[in-house]
Parts: sequence; C-alpha cells; structure tokens
Amino acid sequence: MAEAYKTNECDVLIIGAGGAGMRAALAASDAGLKVIVVTKSLLGKAHTVMAEGGIAASLGNVDPEDNWTVHFADVIEEGVYISNWRMAELVAREAPNRVYELEKFGALFDRTPDGRILQRAFGGHTYRRLCHVGDRTGLEIIRTLQDQIIHRKNVNVIDEMYITKLLLAEGRVCGAIGIKMDRGEFNLFKARSVVMATGGCGRVFKVTSNSWESTGDGIGLAYNVGAVLQDMEMIQFHPTGMVYPPGVKGLLVTEGVRGEGGILYNNQKERYMERYSPKKKELDARDVVARANYAEIQAGRGTEHGGVYLDISYKGADFVKQKLPSMYHQFMEFAGIDITKEMMEVAPTVHYQMGGIKVEPDTGATNVPGLFAAGEVACGLHGANRLGGNSLADILVFGKIVGEGATKFATTQNLPTIEDEDVVSEIERVKSLVHPDGLNAYKLIDELTTTMSDNVGIVRDQEHLEIALKKILELKEKYQRVSAPGGLKYNHGLLAALELGNMLVATEAIVRSAIMRPESRGAHTRRDYPKKNPEWLKNITCVKDGDNMKFDTVPVPEIPEELKKYVKPEVY
Ligand code: FUM
Repeated sequence: MAEAYKTNECDVLIIGAGGAGMRAALAASDAGLKVIVVTKSLLGKAHTVMAEGGIAASLGNVDPEDNWTVHFADVIEEGVYISNWRMAELVAREAPNRVYELEKFGALFDRTPDGRILQRAFGGHTYRRLCHVGDRTGLEIIRTLQDQIIHRKNVNVIDEMYITKLLLAEGRVCGAIGIKMDRGEFNLFKARSVVMATGGCGRVFKVTSNSWESTGDGIGLAYNVGAVLQDMEMIQFHPTGMVYPPGVKGLLVTEGVRGEGGILYNNQKERYMERYSPKKKELDARDVVARANYAEIQAGRGTEHGGVYLDISYKGADFVKQKLPSMYHQFMEFAGIDITKEMMEVAPTVHYQMGGIKVEPDTGATNVPGLFAAGEVACGLHGANRLGGNSLADILVFGKIVGEGATKFATTQNLPTIEDEDVVSEIERVKSLVHPDGLNAYKLIDELTTTMSDNVGIVRDQEHLEIALKKILELKEKYQRVSAPGGLKYNHGLLAALELGNMLVATEAIVRSAIMRPESRGAHTRRDYPKKNPEWLKNITCVKDGDNMKFDTVPVPEIPEELKKYVKPEVY
C-alpha cells in the first residue's frame, strides 16, 4: 500500500519564503544545517514586494546627522511607547549592516551623485533614511535573497505547500504537516527547530494592500500550539491605497510618492495636511496621515470614488517616471490615469499587523520550545504604529537573528519521533473538509472580511467592535460545517477552508484586544476613548486556553537609562 504521506527531515524548517524566511534560511545554511523552506505561494512571490518605497537604515548618506540612536528614538516615539526597546535597538543598530550585506549579495540600490546608496524621506523618520530601488525595493530584496537561496545545496525550497498543523512532541515543536497543493499530497516535516515567517493577516479585511497569501496562517498555527500573541489590536492602515477601479481597490500607492514630494488635496483643492500636521504635513507618521485622509473623506471633502487626491505631477514626467516607475505603470494600466499629468485618487487601506507572535528579541524564540518567529508574523518592534520602511529592516535584521536562534536550538536537539497516528489524524481532518455538502468557505470569508472592514476600521468604537465579535463567533460556529467540493489536488476551495480557520483566530484576537484597550494610541483609534491613557502603557497578550482565548496585560519592558536619553519622554 502506498504511504499516506511523504516524510521530509531537516534541521530547521522555515515556514514562509518572504524576506524574513529567506534571510533566516541563509543564516541556518551558513551554519551548515539542512534547511527546508516551505511556502504556500511560489518562490519570489511574497508580500515583501509590497514594501515598495524603501528600507530604513541610518546610513547618513543624504542627511549626515542621522545615526542609529535617532532611528531608535523614532521607532519608540512613533510606536507610541509600547514597542520592545531591545527590538528597536537591534533594528536601529543592525539595519545598515543588512543593507550593505544586500548590496554585497547583488542588490542594486538607487545612487547619490557620488555613488553612495540614495536615501529618501518617509513619514515619521527624522531624516531621509529610506534606501530604495525606485519604488520596487521589496521586489529587489526578494530577488536578491532568492538568488542566494537557490545556490545553497543545503537549502531546499518547496513551494505550493500549505502547512495545516505544527507538531508537538517531546515537549517542543518539532515539525509540521502540510499539503502539497499542486499534487494533493500530504507531507510530514520532522525538524529540530521550526521558524514561523508567514507574514501578516491583512487579508482578513476587505480593503487591503496585502496579497492573497496574507491570511494569518502563522498566527493560527502558532496560537494552536500555545504561542503567546501580543498587540493584536494594532492594525496599520496605509494612508494611500488605490480606490478605483473596484478590482484594484486597496492596492498600495507607495509612501515613496509623498517621500518624493507628493501632496494630498481634498475636493476643495485644500492641502489639508497643513491643518492636521503643520510641521510634517504629508510626511507625518502613517496613523496621523491615514486618520486625516479618513476624516476628509468622512466630512464629504473626498473625490468622486471616495478618496482624496494625491499629486506628484507637478514634479514633471521625467522625475516621476524615474523615481516612481511602478506607480506610473500601475495607474496607467489599471486606471488609465497618467500620474505625470493627473492627480491620483487614494484612500487608507489595511497594510500591516503590528501585533503577532511574541518573541525573544535576541533569538526570535517564542514561549513554545522549538518554535521561532520573525517578520510581520512576530510582534514587538513596531508597537502601536510602524514607520514605513521598518518592515524591510525588520525582516532582514530579525530574519538573520531568528535563523541563528533556530540554528543554536537545533544543534542541541535530536530529530523527534512522531507518532504515525498524530499524522494520520491530521490528514483525516483535512480530508474530511473535502466534500460538496457543507458551507462554502469563500462565502464565509466574504462575510468575515466585510465585517472587519465595516466595523474594525481606522476609527473604532465599542458598538462596532461588539458587532464584529458577534459575527466572528457566529462564523466560528459555522466553520464547523465548512467544506470544499472537488478533490485534494489543486483545490482552492480547500485552501480557502483551511485559511479561514486561521483568519478566525486572527480576527477574534484583533477584535477582543481592541475591545480591551479603552484609549486611542497609534493605529488603535477609539471614537469613544479619543485620548491616550497612561494606565494603558502596556501590551495586551492573548493565548489559547482550551477552547477560549485568554487575554492579559503586561508592562512594556523598561528602556534602560543609557538608551532612554535618546527618546523624548511620552506626553499625555
Ligand atoms: O509605502 C510603501 O512603500 C510601503 C512601505 C512599507 O510598508 O514599509
């Protein structure tokens, strides 16, 4: 009889092939370990590419006053003081090294006239700090890392592999079960350590810049084995997504446009950011600009398609095409708009989860032995509001750290013994979803994402959060009856059914945490609690407790004196 599943063995299993996963793979590979990277998508097709405008690193090439202490302070202050200081320190200190390393790997950054890496302005960064490749920085980073990975003999990348469960044995996470979607084949992965690098959960909202992969898989998988989640209420709205035509609603319009001088106007031709943020204007932090855009639209001063105007045309066609080539093509091809001559219509779009799996800053270890996490799926660095370009710094800095952390752990462990029945029972669970008689996952996902966008938006209140929670619990109950017609091979309905389980974990954690925080801080804005509250200078955690989610608060780790001196004290 043929085996019910294929068995793969490795030292380090990495789930996710975006920037964090690939950088982690390089670190483990450098140490000589056998690495498997699995992705539900294809190698090179990662949400990392949606960080378009640049990577933040205090090289000081354009503004020589810049240095890591200023970057550190920007992260803490713009994260509204609930970031983990050690993570902020590591990113601020290490980002320049990771950028130079990328260059050594072959990344081609834009240049200053004297040949150094060019840096542009981005919101909330004190200095021009964003190293960039036009408006395709994430894409260049993915291409560069991919070029490294494919030449490593000890790294095996398996694409179109959807992990359905992490395996716990011998008191630790020691592998996973997945389905190779293009073949309908089940796979067991035995590993000495596992790195979660699956990215975020932006797809739990209807209007989002996130690509189809971002369904919170890592959140669900880690939560189900007891990992602590934190800051889940902190969802970033990017101020500028496309609003038109409907098929591309939410698609990112890079902050690079504002970094290069783009100006926001309402339908009265007023440059309203002068009112909301007289000093920083369009280059204030994302939460500030997103709320301003939202307020203008709500006040009836929006555009025909429900956005605001963003203008870069005054800079001239050559400048726009050179600095923002993707934006030029994106608007031309999708909307028939020539941004060298006309204004863009833009509105806030869900872009990033600041919360996620809680990790040790120096290793990426979670509270579950054997499980590590990095990148958007992990939390701590960005606090209540991420600065643009810090996601790319995050994935490279913590990708390396987590790869080293998982390597160190792996070298102290044996390959686990996994009971056959544990594998078979998971395979049976997945197979049991494949029949024509249940509820349609796409319909439930549509209801969930609509609920989230309608009720858990830029400005929240108790009433709407309660509506969202009620709906999520209703959908959780319906999820018991979800099914996918067809077979196991290339069954997108099955994929949707599996993803929905993780989306429900992520949304319940987001909404319950948002209900729990009765204040406005960074990206979490409450209409009913409009002020920041010093009593809420803490992080909200969430962990699985039987069938329930258990929530708690923990104090934000105290910044040591030698670093505190760089940071402005918080003002209430
Ligand atoms: O606007 C952007 O290019 C996005 C960058 C980021 O999220 O870091």
